[in-house]
Amino acid sequence: MSAPRIEKLPDGLANLADFEPHAQARVDDNAWAYLNGGAADEITRHANRAAWDAIQLQPRVLRDLSGGHTRVTLLGRELLHPVLLAPVAYQRLFHTDGELAIAHAAAAQGAGIVLSAQASVTMESVAAPMLADAAAGPLWFQLYWRDDRDFMRALLKRVEAAGYQALVLTVDAPVHGARDRERRTGFKLPDDIRAVNLGGLKKPLDLKPGQSALFDGLMPRAATWREVDWLRAESRLPLLLKGITHADDAREAVARGVAGVIVSNHGGRTLDTVPATAHLLPAVRAAVDVPVLVDGGIRRGTDVLKAMALGANAVLLGRPYVHALTASGALGVAHALRLLRDELEIAMALSGCKTLADAGPALLWPGSIPESTSR
Ligand SMILES: Cc1cc2nc3c(=O)[nH]c(=O)nc-3n(C[C@H](O)[C@H](O)[C@H](O)COP(=O)(O)O)c2cc1C
Repeated sequence: MSAPRIEKLPDGLANLADFEPHAQARVDDNAWAYLNGGAADEITRHANRAAWDAIQLQPRVLRDLSGGHTRVTLLGRELLHPVLLAPVAYQRLFHTDGELAIAHAAAAQGAGIVLSAQASVTMESVAAPMLADAAAGPLWFQLYWRDDRDFMRALLKRVEAAGYQALVLTVDAPVHGARDRERRTGFKLPDDIRAVNLGGLKKPLDLKPGQSALFDGLMPRAATWREVDWLRAESRLPLLLKGITHADDAREAVARGVAGVIVSNHGGRTLDTVPATAHLLPAVRAAVDVPVLVDGGIRRGTDVLKAMALGANAVLLGRPYVHALTASGALGVAHALRLLRDELEIAMALSGCKTLADAGPALLWPGSIPESTSR
């Protein structure tokens, strides 16, 4: 098993945001636009953060919290805490160790990993440290649909053989969002960084004059509910859908045997002006009984606690852990995870919440709970 390099942490890191300037100093404008940008005016990207900030905690005091903990149960497994690293593509763009570094960090800190289909190191090398550590969190593989069933079949076989425990189909990005920052820098992947787990060539678009590349080329190849059924039938692994924002889509997913949904707007990178995930979560939670996870704008232990109080079973962290990776590799990511967990424990202790199973709407100030809760 190759080991990630151990670097010195920058001084004075108090929280996840503190990694960001160190990260920016280590990459070019091209990579920074890709990492930090969102779609269009970035209204959704900002809304994600603002929504967690606007929810207020209502603490209770003098409760006996001895024996409290952050453990949760997810798809039948007990986890030390409810934080997973969200799928983020091409991490060698940010650090030479790329996804290998986050695997070691997550294993050391009991966090889960959802490895991006577009990872820049092999899925087997990421699985090794996670599977070697009994206290590591879940190891899931994220898929983008490719309209080639032989290719998908082979990929699923490899994912299963590598020891991944669930599949996550991302459904909110059949095409790239209109990302202005990337357009301005003319974002392009360097030649030595690629999606190493995705062999084969995508079929070229075969368009007739006057046809739309999007509607006549890409959309006929995009996943629909039919492909969800196909994936369910083709793999023994539980399937989750990432990018669910509507309660009816969550219900449809569950009716088709999906094991869980991730409320996500892709960190504001796909369709701009979608509501914040904190606002979307309650209606999805109310609609289904399967695990519901959420991501987008989670930066603080208090955000994690609020998400759990709104009914999430776990959360995913996106850009902040990549900032930590960029700033100082595996040690940076491990440190970021520890900071977040410490903040969560402090928030629980100070709000009178002994376990996350006890976290519910009563923990939140009524006037600050997103209105869509009652939808
Ligand atoms: C640089 C970057 C690359 C991403 N790549 C993927 C990907 O390959 N697959 C996917 O499902 N989501 C991808 N996402 C979305 C994240 O999984 C996640 O939904 C989002 O980052 C959460 O928001 P946050 O960054 O505010 O925490 C990417 C996000 C970023 C920032």
